[in-house]
Amino acid sequence: MTHTHLAELLTQRRSVRAFLPTPVSDVLLQDVLQQARLAPSGANLQPGVLVQVRGAVRESLSAELIEAWRHGRAEKEDYSYFPKPMPHTLRRRQVAAAQALYGALGVARDDREGRDVQFEKNFCFFHAPVALVVTMDHGFGNGGYMDLGMMLYGLMLAAQAKGLSTCAIGAMASFPNLIRQHLGLNASSHIVCGMALGYADPQAPVNQTQTTRCELGEYFKVVG
Ligand SMILES: Cc1cc2nc3c(=O)[nH]c(=O)nc-3n(C[C@H](O)[C@H](O)[C@H](O)COP(=O)(O)O)c2cc1C
Repeated sequence: MTHTHLAELLTQRRSVRAFLPTPVSDVLLQDVLQQARLAPSGANLQPGVLVQVRGAVRESLSAELIEAWRHGRAEKEDYSYFPKPMPHTLRRRQVAAAQALYGALGVARDDREGRDVQFEKNFCFFHAPVALVVTMDHGFGNGGYMDLGMMLYGLMLAAQAKGLSTCAIGAMASFPNLIRQHLGLNASSHIVCGMALGYADPQAPVNQTQTTRCELGEYFKVVG
């Protein structure tokens, strides 16, 4: 692969939240997973297990996640993701990302119902042909999450190189017990996130979502 090709993959990847029904073959999926697994990890521990959820299990999992969310049922998450409280600068980035998403959908800021309709799609893996739940052994600390993140980005880029698209789904981490129950996992498997994978629907307005990144000076400093 040339450098130009990698630069294109990095630039063109977007979180995709609507998919064509076109199936993804097992061979193709396994190829993507094996490439993702080439990611580096501390002491080569290679943390994380991806569980593909299919058929009736997927249907009942999604139905119960939506039900739990609609009823405002809260579970203790296996790990904390966002800073609490959210500092103002980060809050601004969060709001900008939400505006990009709901703007593409034409959902107004105060349209609670419109937002909820989109949010519930998280729990259906955005109807992607491939639904993955990302888990990691509870013994891992922050380093494990860092390693796993590299693998997940590898997965996104490997998928992208094959004409596939993805969206990580942190929303899944809100219901770890419910997910473990459906997947037949015990408490030692932490629920990290979901991952939707498939062929992007180019017509879907939600896939026109375009986010930006902060300026170099905000995350790069030179000392000495
Ligand atoms: C770990 C992780 C979890 C995410 N969780 C969600 C999610 O639950 N729902 C969603 O719609 N997008 C989710 N996203 C997508 C982010 O909103 C998206 O990556 C960000 O806005 C930047 O946009 P881009 O991926 O299109 O470049 C997640 C992304 C990551 C990396």
